[in-house]
Amino acid sequence: MPLPLASLDQVPEWHALESHFREIEPLHLRSLFADDPDRAERFSLEAAGLRLDYSKNRLTSQTVEHLAKLAERTGVRAGIGAMFDGSRINVTEDRSVLHIALRRPAAKALTVDGVEVMADVHAALAKMSSFAERIRSGSWLGFTQRRIRNVVNIGIGGSDLGPLMAVEALKPYADRGLTVRFVSNVDGTHLSESIRDLDPQETLFIVASKSFTTQETLTNAVSARDWVLAAMSDQSAVKHHFVALSTSAERVAEFGIDVDNMFEFWDWVGGRYSLCSAVGLSLMIAVGTEHFHDMLSGFHAMDTHFEEAPLEQNMPVLLGLIGIWYNNFFGYDTHAVLPYDQYLHRFPAYLQQLDMESNGKSVDRAGKRVRWSTGPVLWGEAGTNGQHAFYQLIHQGSRIVPADLIGFCRSHNHLADHHDKLVANLIAQGEALAFGKTMSEVEAEGTAASIVPHKVFDGNRPTNTLLADQLTPKVLGALIALYEHKVFVQGIVWGICSFDQWGVQLGKELATRVLPELQSATALEHDASTSALIRHYRSRRKA
Ligand code: F6P
Repeated sequence: MPLPLASLDQVPEWHALESHFREIEPLHLRSLFADDPDRAERFSLEAAGLRLDYSKNRLTSQTVEHLAKLAERTGVRAGIGAMFDGSRINVTEDRSVLHIALRRPAAKALTVDGVEVMADVHAALAKMSSFAERIRSGSWLGFTQRRIRNVVNIGIGGSDLGPLMAVEALKPYADRGLTVRFVSNVDGTHLSESIRDLDPQETLFIVASKSFTTQETLTNAVSARDWVLAAMSDQSAVKHHFVALSTSAERVAEFGIDVDNMFEFWDWVGGRYSLCSAVGLSLMIAVGTEHFHDMLSGFHAMDTHFEEAPLEQNMPVLLGLIGIWYNNFFGYDTHAVLPYDQYLHRFPAYLQQLDMESNGKSVDRAGKRVRWSTGPVLWGEAGTNGQHAFYQLIHQGSRIVPADLIGFCRSHNHLADHHDKLVANLIAQGEALAFGKTMSEVEAEGTAASIVPHKVFDGNRPTNTLLADQLTPKVLGALIALYEHKVFVQGIVWGICSFDQWGVQLGKELATRVLPELQSATALEHDASTSALIRHYRSRRKA
């Protein structure tokens, strides 16, 4: 069933929001809170172990009603149904989008094009699990009969950022006797620095590539294979030290990896949505099968909430719509994600691909140029580090940056009062951004008149606060699914295809053309700037 496609800025719900915006825009969060003592409670909800407080946003109950009507009109409800029933909603690649199947219990059947997919999903998980446990127990041996102590995932984009982020996030659950690293950049420095202190006889490489054609990944994999063969001088070492995660058995075999050691996934799993598939193998090795399955159950809990909750009480839908409120009506075009947890230090980078590769589009699903702004620039950093770097701009800069503050009530590391201090900072930032500090408050502190304007905080700067008890595998799963579905909701409303990424192709094609031109003195037919850069590199490279 094709997704409905509305001409967003023509529908009455959009116009209603435009006039509602004119009423809300002049209001300050200070008065919204003062006038409504139940505001915090009214604009908070819980789902899948996460508590969202969205009361520090520039909205009222009416705003939420208007936004929900827009969601209804633009087909969000139908879109959710279409994703969960396996419709080919990735229209430009003619594929289903079924990452929700990867974390679905085996007993909940799901048929796509007449094929029951849950049996395949769980067979693949079982194969991953048996391999992961062999590595963890030491029963999988390297070519020289040594135990594997190091695991290096070679992949990029969706075949890197998810497992890398999650291995960092779930470190407290990891087997600390195993070193797990991630190599993504084609810059030889990345591989060299990642393996320089490792013993090839004790190292397993996981070559992760959905397509198995990605230049960076294959280049790194070939160099890693050379490194292994230089130490073991026998081609058959490859099958002991390399496994692959891919949708293409043919290309994996061509590379020389035994297809028995290939972990399969399917074209209905988008790269940036693939953590729960075979792409999560490095994570499963790090934390073990049980914790991996706990994470899947967290994903599934959020999936179920997303599928079943009414739009106005649906956490991913609300986050998506609030983002649209700022992006399209206030004109705030960046969004910060600020996790107050060191273990989540790669979460913003992970979300950058999820959000910006999904919704950084300017034509709709029918190929028509959109007249409204789409995906925001997403960025962030772990608290409290960001506070001493860019928060100045968030508090007093001329642009407004809506932000998500993410925190946990219990730490994994009980060190004096570190955690209370961390959470005090999270809570204080939301308060400061919302309510600011008025001129009279600054004057009342006895500040010199010339300095007063510098110390005023306008406030009225919106945040969402997400809290959970602890960063467990289950909570991590729910958190990731929350953002996946938020991005989906926004894509539906904007009318774009969130599941392709044609925008990365041109640069790749041109790099393929430029490469031989750097390596030999062929004639150049580029623009003057590009040709001059190539010539400069050629001359300096020789030197
Ligand atoms: O950057 C484009 C992209 O296709 C991403 O969408 C993807 O996650 C990444 O490259 C890696 O692709 P693959 O897993 O096929 O190597």
